[in-house]
Amino acid sequence: MTTGILECSPAILVAAGLSVLAIFFCYLAFFRGGTKRYPPAVGTVFHQVYHLQRLHDYHTGLFREHKTFRLLSPGRRQIYTSDPAVVEHILRTNFTSYGKGDFNYENMSDLLGDGIFAVDGDKWKQQRKIASYDFSTRALRDFSGGVFNKNAAKLARIVASNAATKHPMDFQGLLMKATMDSIFTIAFGLDLNTLDGSADEGSRFAAAFDDASEFTLVRYVNVFWKVARFLNVGVEATLRDRIKVVDEFVYKRIRGRADEMSDDKARDAHPKQDLLSRFILATTSDSGKVDYKYLRDIIMNIVIAGKDTTAGGLSWFLYMVCKHPDVQEKISKEVSEATANAGEAASSVDEFSRSLTDEALNRMHYLHAALTETLRLYPSVPLDNKECFSDDVLPNGFSVGKGDIVYYTPYAMGRMERLWGDDAHEFRPERWLDQDGAFQPESPFKFTAFQAGPRICLGKEFAYRQMKIFAAVLFRFFVLALRDEKASVNYRSMITLYIDQGLHLTATAR
Ligand code: HEM
Ligand SMILES: *[C@@H]1O[C@H](CO)[C@@H](O)[C@H](O)[C@H]1NC(C)=O
Ligand SMILES: *[C@@H]1O[C@H](CO)[C@@H](O)[C@H](O)[C@H]1NC(C)=O
Repeated sequence: MTTGILECSPAILVAAGLSVLAIFFCYLAFFRGGTKRYPPAVGTVFHQVYHLQRLHDYHTGLFREHKTFRLLSPGRRQIYTSDPAVVEHILRTNFTSYGKGDFNYENMSDLLGDGIFAVDGDKWKQQRKIASYDFSTRALRDFSGGVFNKNAAKLARIVASNAATKHPMDFQGLLMKATMDSIFTIAFGLDLNTLDGSADEGSRFAAAFDDASEFTLVRYVNVFWKVARFLNVGVEATLRDRIKVVDEFVYKRIRGRADEMSDDKARDAHPKQDLLSRFILATTSDSGKVDYKYLRDIIMNIVIAGKDTTAGGLSWFLYMVCKHPDVQEKISKEVSEATANAGEAASSVDEFSRSLTDEALNRMHYLHAALTETLRLYPSVPLDNKECFSDDVLPNGFSVGKGDIVYYTPYAMGRMERLWGDDAHEFRPERWLDQDGAFQPESPFKFTAFQAGPRICLGKEFAYRQMKIFAAVLFRFFVLALRDEKASVNYRSMITLYIDQGLHLTATAR
């Protein structure tokens, strides 16, 4: 018996040989890019459009096979990672080689301008320096704490008036308004009062602001946005209109405050605590010239950074503790214990809310763990990216080219068994506590909800404080339950993670 291959005609052998060579060269060109080796290509960016409704779960599935992969795209190379070593490399070790870049800057610049979110290099450094100093001051902590307490009490009063009728409410909508009111007061020293819903200038501004954020995101999927902007048609025309409403409101506020401050001879005796006043002092030149555009950009970025992220985080948190009533009970118990020495005096919503000092909040380890566990599974920023500024090699040996985009993926990373164990999909606040019940943080390169490295979220402390105050007030006075236990809940793939259907809960007084 002879083997099959020797019986083949020479022509077939040559053809077979050529095919093998061709495949080999394709392989070289495709996966190695010459001498370079890029992460394996496991799909294309068009697959993402198909999976848009469940985008982050699509990524999660792909990561089960490859810690780092590539999606083929017509433009820049797109690399996705769930590997803490790679995350540490791009966010810290080689920080200067990765940044926002023009990939993000141009799309966002009409809304974000030159604010901290959009820029790199010296512009970023200057704002980061001023803002991180401000955020660490006692004065701003006290001022913001008071604002959070007041708005938590206001929210609780709205919930109480509905609890009597057992009418379900959309808590996500309420939380969006509450966090908007909080951050706007802290930033501009003005209560928009959207929570009370009076249809005035503040609500008009807030609505325009939300539209502007949403329409800005449309640019990431609409490749023709620049043409539309030039022609001033469609969504781009609406976006221009909304940004105008936002800017008019904000500039009026900045001008007003700057004038007040230059007139006010005794301003040092009565310093204003809002961020705007602090930035006016920090950025106004000796000649008294105020850079209105720069102030607008700085402050607006902080409002954008702090609003939807916190509201989204809190919404998913309420959802999770309604799904896990035992966790809700434990939180309620911890809140009572941590505020016990406020005594009977704290029986009204306002008094209780005022009793939530930093010391009391610091005692709430279980609540802190439950919030963190929520952000592990539902990080407010589920997917984030950096542009590579010059050719580099990642710790896993794969190359990255100048202009490539590297995505790190808080949502998928939070669900990786290889990072969190076999129960990664379970909501278990205890995983963040040691034997004594004290909260144990994780490496920020593994738990990436707040980013990591020099550009780690500046408002992390603020966010936890606001979330803890709101949670403490709600669970001191109410038991919350889902309107419909069985209704399935999905996220919406915006920059921040929302509950697509809203969060409809019923509240019962405790
Ligand atoms: C649960 C709530 C929050 C989450 C999950 C969160 C998450 C993040 C993430 C992922 C980034 C990195 C974005 C990027 O550069 O691509 C970031 C940056 C930032 N966050 Fe937060 N954030 C939250 C709340 C807040 C709050 C309340 C504030 C302000 C009061 C704030 C202020 C900022 C600022 C200023 C930056 C930019 C830092 C820089 O580029 O140096 N964040 N945050
Ligand atoms: C903006 O989004 C588009 C997608 O429409 C993307 O192709 C582009 O690279 C992004 N950046 C710029 C500068 O346009
Ligand atoms: C950082 O990136 C540069 C290219 O931009 C590269 O030459 C350098 O070796 C990298 N440094 C580290 C520590 O990986």
